[in-house]
Amino acid sequence: MTVIQKNAPSIVLKGLSKTFSEDIRQANYILENVDLTIKQGEFYILLGPSGCGKSTLLNILAGFIEKSDGELTINGESEESKANRGFVFQSADSALFPWLTVEENVEFGLKMKKVPLAERKEVANHFIELAGLSGHNHKFPSEISGGMKQRVQLARVLANDPQILLMDEPFGALDAMTRRTMQKELIRIWKETNKTIIFVTHDIQEALMLGQHIGIMSIGPSSKITHSYEINLPYPREITSPDFNQYYKVVQSHFD
Ligand SMILES: Nc1ncnc2c1ncn2[C@@H]1O[C@H](COP(=O)(O)OP(=O)(O)OP(=O)(O)O)[C@@H](O)[C@H]1O
Ligand SMILES: [Mg+2]
Repeated sequence: MTVIQKNAPSIVLKGLSKTFSEDIRQANYILENVDLTIKQGEFYILLGPSGCGKSTLLNILAGFIEKSDGELTINGESEESKANRGFVFQSADSALFPWLTVEENVEFGLKMKKVPLAERKEVANHFIELAGLSGHNHKFPSEISGGMKQRVQLARVLANDPQILLMDEPFGALDAMTRRTMQKELIRIWKETNKTIIFVTHDIQEALMLGQHIGIMSIGPSSKITHSYEINLPYPREITSPDFNQYYKVVQSHFD
């Protein structure tokens, strides 16, 4: 078992660039020279306007797409690292298996890893409970609400015990009230599990509700992280507090 020291750098990017062009001489860089360090157990927000390259960066961190240039290390290893990463997509509809129940969806990854039945039921139930879904084990995705589906997706990812959670606007499609509940749940789960979370959003309020650090990305092309803020506010955060408002104004000023 690898013991990961808390607050050790978990993810380091140096001069990372990405182009989708084949010909490097005519390259149109989506991301150019992105530098970023995220520590073990940190809740890090990537905030930026639509189309700037947030999903592209998150997909590179997930290992779904390749970088074009620069360095990426995860837990001190190159990007081929075996670090276990879990990805939460914007829409649970495309991520969940509609023919499987809540419980079967959550235990799916464990089943693939051939974890014995009794053990995987125990793990699945733990995360179903953590996600506030107890009593819904045997329902199908079509029988539960959008917020509940998103919690199933989260429980499924957590059941695989990733060291790093990558979340791409996971609450973007939810109504304001459900989004608020999900944000609270996520903070609770993060505190209980001490995962490293990288969360993409273009919503400043959401960024300030959740993040310990916020990295602001510039408008693309050639987007990079231009500013980084440490948010020194205790959880749960109060949207109406003067301190929250102060941070809001500072972050908002980058998008004026
Ligand atoms: N596979 C691809 N091939 C070519 N261009 C791509 C590809 N994927 C993304 N892009 C381009 O890269 C840029 C960044 O896209 P990306 O999806 O990363 O933005 P985003 O910040 O996540 O936007 P949003 O907030 O709207 O989700 C866009 O101009 C997009 O057209
Ligand atoms: Mg995106």
